[in-house]
Amino acid sequence: MRIIVASPGPSRRQLLTLLGGAAVFAACRSRNAPTSGALVKALPPETFIPHELYCAETRLDSLPTDSLITPTASFYVRNHGPTPLIAADTWSLRVDGEGVARPLSLSYAQLLTMPSVRAIRYLECAGNGRAYFDELMHRPAEGSPWRDGGYGVAEWVGVRLAEILHRAGLRPNAAWVTPISLDGEGYARPMPLAKALADDTLVAHTMNGAPLPPDHGFPARIVVPGWVGAASVKWVGALEVTVRQPSVKMNTEEYVFLGPDYPKPPPPLTTGVVKSVVCLPWPAVLPPGRQPIPGLAWSPFGRIARVEVSLDGGQTYRPARLVGDNLPVAGVRWQFDLDAVPGDMTVTPRAVDEYGNGQPDLAAQKWNEKGYLFAAPVPHPLHIV
Ligand code: MTE
Repeated sequence: MRIIVASPGPSRRQLLTLLGGAAVFAACRSRNAPTSGALVKALPPETFIPHELYCAETRLDSLPTDSLITPTASFYVRNHGPTPLIAADTWSLRVDGEGVARPLSLSYAQLLTMPSVRAIRYLECAGNGRAYFDELMHRPAEGSPWRDGGYGVAEWVGVRLAEILHRAGLRPNAAWVTPISLDGEGYARPMPLAKALADDTLVAHTMNGAPLPPDHGFPARIVVPGWVGAASVKWVGALEVTVRQPSVKMNTEEYVFLGPDYPKPPPPLTTGVVKSVVCLPWPAVLPPGRQPIPGLAWSPFGRIARVEVSLDGGQTYRPARLVGDNLPVAGVRWQFDLDAVPGDMTVTPRAVDEYGNGQPDLAAQKWNEKGYLFAAPVPHPLHIV
């Protein structure tokens, strides 16, 4: 976990800035009551594809290519309900349950003064790529047809979940930690203690250098790197530490693998999948001639080792170049020089990470009813005119 940088917590100046941001937000809240069905952030159509009521997929081709970090304004949003507006001055994080000896409650100011760490990590929605179950496997899945843009990388700053759990005095039989949201939807997603204690599992209060915006979990959210985005509970208000795995909707009905290839009861989703995508519109319209095709690749386990590209629908592959930062559990940008000839073409990337984890062939891609974790290489259509 090299890129985690421990720090003694924000400086007094940073603290005032963060608390100032919180105060401004609290003031906005009293003027602007939550509007049903709305997200707070602007969703310009050149940056986002809207989904369902409260969700927006990032157009990856709209992102600046000089950085791996997704600007906060462009970061995808996946909400099960409207974004709640929570005031920092009345917020607290409760830690209790049979697995802790000293239940506690932390205020926002207390959270900000605890030792913090910084981690650049990606989040990806489990349903990212759902469209391809229908388009490539001809077996539609339930839910919105996301393509590739339910993925974003941020620099998170927060307190290690482990630090907070240890303050509450973990009992020897503590085995599960369930972050519970204040969003009014009862959103909660349990994880085993080992994942909760991982170095980079955070209670994050800062995203890309600023307090979390409302849509991304203000005042605080959990960040569970490498796991499906569903585990990274936003607007967290409580941590329940238990001996047994609690049954909550988000691990019995949602974010579970349902379908003929899976056992019953359906297993909850945990770790994400290795992915590579082309960062061009769908379909892309390009002029003929030699030109770089841009893309992104990521792994829930570590760094990307290589990306290859097929121009014949997956029969043969040639190497692509990795460009810029290549960060573990965040991703890397890649480029491939294409000799574009007039007509229709496809570019199909596939990636392998530093531990040898790759993407399954389409024939090996398992289908599930809810369209989670599509991982096979995707032929990206290009019209060359
Ligand atoms: N937390 C709460 N409270 N409510 C939600 O709807 N959505 C989850 C997760 N945390 C969700 C939540 C899902 S499915 C994803 S993919 C990520 O948040 C998305 O985080 P983002 O909206 O900040 O990109």
